Amino acid sequence: MAKVLYNEKILPFYYKLGMSWEGLPAIEPGQFVMLRITENAAPLLRRPFGIYKILGQGASLPVRGRTQTGGKGQGVEIIYKVVGKGTGLMTNLKPGDIVDVLGPLGNSFQPIGRVGAARQNQRIIMAAGGIGIVPFYLLAKSYQLSGISLKLLFGGRGKDDLPGLEDFKKLGIEIKISTQDGSAGEKGLVTELLKSEIRNPKSEIIYACGAKAMLKAVAKMAEDANTPCYVSLDNAMACGIGACLGCAVKIGSGKWEVESGESKPTSHLLPPTSQIYKMVCKDGPVFNAREIAWEEI
Ligand SMILES: Cc1cc2nc3c(=O)[nH]c(=O)nc-3n(C[C@H](O)[C@H](O)[C@H](O)COP(=O)(O)OP(=O)(O)OC[C@H]3O[C@@H](n4cnc5c(N)ncnc54)[C@H](O)[C@@H]3O)c2cc1C
Ligand code: FES
Repeated sequence: MAKVLYNEKILPFYYKLGMSWEGLPAIEPGQFVMLRITENAAPLLRRPFGIYKILGQGASLPVRGRTQTGGKGQGVEIIYKVVGKGTGLMTNLKPGDIVDVLGPLGNSFQPIGRVGAARQNQRIIMAAGGIGIVPFYLLAKSYQLSGISLKLLFGGRGKDDLPGLEDFKKLGIEIKISTQDGSAGEKGLVTELLKSEIRNPKSEIIYACGAKAMLKAVAKMAEDANTPCYVSLDNAMACGIGACLGCAVKIGSGKWEVESGESKPTSHLLPPTSQIYKMVCKDGPVFNAREIAWEEI
């Protein structure tokens, strides 16, 4: 259980929700929580939200390549976009309200030394679309002191679709913005920004989060350029713990390659056929882009 500290509107459809959480476990960038919004019948199911910030005095963040591997604190902040019944009800949460939270869940964008991590000589390109910005705040904080160069490409429909932008400006990392209506940054899609950023596959790694169409385009560009690419998927979820199979994503050939050759089908729930599925909640939400059967998305 967590207690609401604040629930503030930051943009017309976006809120930030801070919650104190006793005994908060270590958190890695890219992990999420499942939030039970109401005790009432609808919506019955928990809703998944990425962890944006770790709150609290002495909150330690995961610093890549240093001694810490996980972030501890006294609470978390999420950013949510109001899209339906559950997120609509969340706007009524007040300081002091108790929220039923499950997590942290899922895998993460990896620390240095693990499969899928940026290496010392690599440049990280983070490509975010709208609410897809969420996993990148902790990621950027965690790599900030590592000496690895970070660039954020942030796209939205318009200037009101760039939540958290001010936080990233304060981090002092390189940022490029695009909006479809041209109200901020360059007019166009974030994938157009990415096109001019991919220069050297040996020294770059792409991390992406956003709408499926955007991720599909990013994955294609990364594959064409032979650049390593990891995507965070946001399939709708029911249980969040691998039990209901509701968030399954189809895996390509099952013979994908990653740098160290360690990526394997991990879901024990389905047989290792040439067409297998993984659970976004348990095996993800972060996947090597080359694993995904994008033609099915
Ligand atoms: C791992 C993960 C992390 C996420 N992180 C965040 C986050 O940090 N902030 C945030 O605002 N949202 C996030 N989401 C999406 C969020 O869970 C949904 O927007 C939310 O569940 C919608 O609940 P609702 O009851 O308001 O909408 P509903 O009433 O359930 O649905 C309203 C509309 O939204 C669509 N929708 C619902 N869920 C999704 C989804 N997962 N992807 C695309 N469309 C959907 C429905 O099809 C419907 O059209 C995340 C999802 C996942 C799986
Ligand atoms: S949400 Fe139930 S298996 Fe992933």
